[in-house]
Amino acid sequence: MITYPATAHAELIPGNCFGTFKLPDEVAFVTDRGEGSNLWTTDGRRLIDFVLGSGPMMIGHAHPRVVSAIQEQAVRGTTFYAMNDVAPRLAARIADMVPCAEAVKFVGDGAEATFYSLRLARAFTGRDLVLKFEGAYHGHHDYALHGLNPAHGTNYPVARPDSAGIPGEVSSTILVAPYNDLETTTQLINRCCHDRGFSPASAASAATPAPCSFSTKSSLDSASRSEAGRKPSEWSLISVRSVR
Ligand SMILES: Cc1ncc(COP(=O)(O)O)c(C=O)c1O
Repeated sequence: MITYPATAHAELIPGNCFGTFKLPDEVAFVTDRGEGSNLWTTDGRRLIDFVLGSGPMMIGHAHPRVVSAIQEQAVRGTTFYAMNDVAPRLAARIADMVPCAEAVKFVGDGAEATFYSLRLARAFTGRDLVLKFEGAYHGHHDYALHGLNPAHGTNYPVARPDSAGIPGEVSSTILVAPYNDLETTTQLINRCCHDRGFSPASAASAATPAPCSFSTKSSLDSASRSEAGRKPSEWSLISVRSVR
């Protein structure tokens, strides 16, 4: 059997990273395996994994029940691109567990989820503009990849793309507001609504409630959460606390 040492062929992977997750060279490592909350690197170190696959490994790596379920399904086939027996049953379990889940759409990753969410919101509201918060990561697709790095400038709400290859027409549909700054954000929204001739109240009804997974770099504090609970129809500008 021919073996391909990872380090010798790393240049075949663009950026030598997955998605946009790239560690600085001095701390970069190559993962050999994961178990529970730990990763083992190819040079024999054990690391605590706070990234957890960017979300999906929330119960840890290689949990025995997950491994067993994967093995059971693998022999029956894995990808069909057609309705299958398992999907509606899983959808029903998710709908039971998530109070707001009226319908469930399965997607491949977080970027695909936010991509569809934007399209759905635009189709429903008939509006193209979307406001995001500076520094918040919502995936690598063209709409989401704006305003990640505050060092890019503060000409709010102009959205600066974080990658080459994003058309200006796409950037012009995104507004960026400063993180954790309710006052400035409210002003931006009011100005934007005024310029486009619709009321902030009707815009608010189309706003997406800020999800708990607002960004991997932030977490909701409990006061903000209860504030959000009291005023569900208001703008989804609940404050978030950076844990960086
Ligand atoms: C809030 C949020 N949305 C979307 C994404 C993108 O997810 P994925 O890396 O699975 O594409 C992330 C990833 O960290 C996220 O935190």
